[in-house]
Amino acid sequence: MRLSVIGCGYLGAVHAACMAELGHEVVGIDVDAGKVDALNRAAAPFFEPGLDETLRKAIDSGRLRFSTDFADAATAQVHFVAVGTPQKPGENAADLTYVHAAIDALAPHVAPGSLVVGKSTVPVGTASVLVQRLQAVQPEATLAWNPEFLREGVAVTDTIAPDRIVYGLPSGADGEHAKALLDEVYAVALGKGTPLVVTDYATAELVKVAANAFLATKISFINAMSEVADTVGADVTQLADAIGYDARIGRKFLNAGVGFGGGCLPKDIRAFRARAEELGVGDSLTFLKEVDAINVRQRERVVIRLREALGGELAGRRVAVLGLAFKPDSDDVRDSPALDVAVRLKGLGADVVTTDPRAIENARARHPQLTYEPSVEAALRNAAAVVVVTEWAEYRDLDPEWAGELVAGKVIIDGRNALNPLTWRAAGWTYRGSGRP
Ligand code: UGA
Repeated sequence: MRLSVIGCGYLGAVHAACMAELGHEVVGIDVDAGKVDALNRAAAPFFEPGLDETLRKAIDSGRLRFSTDFADAATAQVHFVAVGTPQKPGENAADLTYVHAAIDALAPHVAPGSLVVGKSTVPVGTASVLVQRLQAVQPEATLAWNPEFLREGVAVTDTIAPDRIVYGLPSGADGEHAKALLDEVYAVALGKGTPLVVTDYATAELVKVAANAFLATKISFINAMSEVADTVGADVTQLADAIGYDARIGRKFLNAGVGFGGGCLPKDIRAFRARAEELGVGDSLTFLKEVDAINVRQRERVVIRLREALGGELAGRRVAVLGLAFKPDSDDVRDSPALDVAVRLKGLGADVVTTDPRAIENARARHPQLTYEPSVEAALRNAAAVVVVTEWAEYRDLDPEWAGELVAGKVIIDGRNALNPLTWRAAGWTYRGSGRP
């Protein structure tokens, strides 16, 4: 099929590359000429394992190109809108500026009978407004809502082989037409038996934010348990294992530590609350305020643990912070708990030296006041304490004996419960995890 993807950020670039990989003919449109140039050279402007290779293959096959000109989307049968919906500055609500701009710029180029598909995460009720905006310009176009559930770090596989597909469709003939086109787009995944939920706009929009709200709640739940565990000397990792064996609960997303961050979970739970308040059902989502508060509190808990382990004084102490990205296998530092901990420690007068395998440049652009070292070895040298805040494999696998030779003080704060306390203690380290005795 001939597809266009409007907005070539994380979601759009991955979607465009993967749709071409599946055999479709794809044009990605973005207003940022630098991004378009990089993508045409198969160089994604962010780190995502496997994406550059997928881009290269698709571009070489002649099925994928990127452009700044919306007119290049005109021949597509299906247009995906994948622009960002960031948090509004100083507010909880989502900023829909880019979604509106994308629809307005695209609408004049949409051919009669074509389908526009929203993929961006939007407040419930957005699609029913956008369809009017679209059809005011092209009355013979159809709108569908098709939320995306990809995770950074495994975005390519999540897009090629999603665990479910959701269509939010209008009723009647328009809906049937949209379903037929989407079934063709996703023929490979559907052919493999991927579950498909066909529903209305509002449900499709809600599915996305409800999924992220549930995941955020699960993480804050286990972090709340870790706070209780800390006070009574219990072990939250064993607690998570034990409750996780119950198939109704499940062990995934029950890792206690410094909490969730990134470009999705934090802003999505805030936007969801803001939308619920607008709809007069704010009480239904009051708990998400607590989920957010528990999450942010975990960053401070790491700082407190470190201060205690260093005998109460942080000022002037050299601290190695391992990790800046919001999670491993990513260079994304948006709302990163790791970067936030580094900034807090610096603000308290510590001599902070940070490192990360991929995220240094992004972190430096936001916080030039921090010291960045590309190698773990340099970051550890002469540190009075070490803080692990992103569980990259190379930090999980650190040898405590080797690290012990480099540091000035053998104190390690495990902000992700990613290390084995027994091996670290056996090597003479003071180890402090989250909710671990
Ligand atoms: C999240 C969702 O998982 C995706 O399904 C969704 O498509 C995406 O948001 C989105 O809305 O676009 P992502 O932001 O890539 O994906 O990250 P996650 O893997 O969900 O991790 C989020 C944060 O939670 C990370 O900071 C991670 O370190 C933290 N986390 C995760 C924990 O603290 N504990 C856990 O047990 C799991």
